[in-house]
Amino acid sequence: MTKLEINSAESMQKLGASLAKTAKPHDLLLLNGDLGAGKTTMTQGLGRELGVRRPVKSPTFTIVREYREARLPLFYMDFYRLEDDDLSSIDLEGYLAEPGLIVIEWPQLVMNDLPNEYLQLTLTRVDDSWESTKRVVKFDPHGKRNEEWVKAALTEYDE
Ligand SMILES: Nc1ncnc2c1ncn2[C@@H]1O[C@H](COP(=O)(O)OP(=O)(O)O)[C@@H](O)[C@H]1O
Ligand SMILES: [Mg+2]
Repeated sequence: MTKLEINSAESMQKLGASLAKTAKPHDLLLLNGDLGAGKTTMTQGLGRELGVRRPVKSPTFTIVREYREARLPLFYMDFYRLEDDDLSSIDLEGYLAEPGLIVIEWPQLVMNDLPNEYLQLTLTRVDDSWESTKRVVKFDPHGKRNEEWVKAALTEYDE
């Protein structure tokens, strides 16, 4: 399993940008990790690379934020606050059918409604100190396309 050590919020954004540069239509990125791990920070770097000029914001209260102006339309979702019966209010299938890039924070509640192929990342703080900017990102690709995506993104990140 691939792991990457990240030492700053800027590097986390760079990783997001590397994932964006190497993303293809219909890619699905699942982000796990505690609050404050850096999931939204990564997605901000990703959105900027895709050409989103307004700030990419956490969709915690809206569940979905659409950035259709991006080179690859970005659909950013966060199911942290979702109640089981709220699920029907989101047209997940509709989003999956669009040739864009879907990023999901807290995907556990919707795993049954997702395709089998996706790239799952787990972000963890590795120091006890709250101020520490050190994180480890674990890459867990499902399917060939996602294995290739990880390889391409890491190559891009190293350059
Ligand atoms: N290496 C790092 N990667 C990502 N964020 C970091 C890092 N170091 C410090 N931070 C800070 O930690 C916070 C992460 O918040 P956020 O990205 O909203 O987390 P999450 O979406 O996982 O809850 C931000 O304030 C960010 O500036
Ligand atoms: Mg977040």
